[in-house]
Amino acid sequence: MFETLLPPKQDAIIALMQAFAADTRTDKIDLGVGVYRDEDGCTPVMRAVKSAEARIVAEQDSKSYLSLAGDAAFLTAMERLLLGGAVPSSRVAAVGTPGGTSAVRQICELVRTTRPDAVVWVSAQTWPNHLPLIAAAGLASRPYRYLDAGGGGLDHIGMFADLEQVNAGDIVLIHGCCHNPTGVDLGLQDWAELAALLSRRGAVPFVDMAYQGFGEGLEDDAAGLRHLAARLPEVLVAASCSKNFGLYRERVGIAMTIVPEPQRTTLAAALASLNRQAFAFPPDHGGRVVSTILGDDALRHDWQGELDAMRNRVQENRRALATALRNATGSDRFAALGVQNGMFSMLPLTPDQVASLRKDHGVYVLDDGRANMAGLSARNIERCAHAIAQVAR
Ligand code: LMR
Repeated sequence: MFETLLPPKQDAIIALMQAFAADTRTDKIDLGVGVYRDEDGCTPVMRAVKSAEARIVAEQDSKSYLSLAGDAAFLTAMERLLLGGAVPSSRVAAVGTPGGTSAVRQICELVRTTRPDAVVWVSAQTWPNHLPLIAAAGLASRPYRYLDAGGGGLDHIGMFADLEQVNAGDIVLIHGCCHNPTGVDLGLQDWAELAALLSRRGAVPFVDMAYQGFGEGLEDDAAGLRHLAARLPEVLVAASCSKNFGLYRERVGIAMTIVPEPQRTTLAAALASLNRQAFAFPPDHGGRVVSTILGDDALRHDWQGELDAMRNRVQENRRALATALRNATGSDRFAALGVQNGMFSMLPLTPDQVASLRKDHGVYVLDDGRANMAGLSARNIERCAHAIAQVAR
């Protein structure tokens, strides 16, 4: 049966994780996969998560099935976290999913069931799994320009010129904050222009929110999404709790649609039905941890404090690397790293330079130069900057 099966093309992030694990050098530096790391290189279980888990273990009296949409308390808490009341709940239909990845997939499946000819417009630089997920759902995609020629900021003119070509019913995928891989985010003015363009063209935004809390803060990071939600009739959302709750392997995500009120019930049923076809019931434990934290003032306060500290650490790493690179290269070539947002930035290196960084210095970044700033620490920043300066010469 499988004689003709070819090995699938490997995902760039998973391949890099494997290469890093196989490297026996003790001073290797992992700036690959997007997980938060502390100063000791550990990805901690957050304090509030530990407390919520203890409470759940003590109090939970059944693990029987819930609804196909998952736990209602999780969905309500996430709606509040993402939308902050920007639209009435009567316009929101959502389901839990195994991680943000499945949320992206389920939204694409939803689009295909209703509009199979829709084109999904994706920023030219994006998370390596976006295009495979869109293709696996049977949808076509097209790129829009995103990063400017200098690699430091948004190619505003290019992006908006490309998006002028969207057709009514097309989908425009946008990173809600902490753009992965560039670290370049839309400003409020850009979001306002985007809302106006999408409204004029009749296209539907699809906001992927995987890093809320890692950019400017929980509220500011959701400002763009909320702006679109308040102004457009339809908005699609995929969100992940992997990073901001540190629940990576628990797989906690949400697929959400914001629609005109009369369509809400149908959308809720359509999303539930798609869950049934893909995995039936979403995982419960991680979502229950999230709703326990968000529903308890003390736990929420502690979680937010720890998240703020994580964000500040990543920002300090960025600034320290930019400074170390200026000292090591005697130039401002890497200055943008210091002001970009979230976990990632793209080092302006060629694929050969990236390969040399890995082979000759044990510093692991993705082939496109994407580097996870959370992987840096006071111990390795200088060495990292010198390695980058050396390969960039
Ligand atoms: C990343 O971009 O590295 C993370 O979102 C992990 C993943 O699933 O790719």
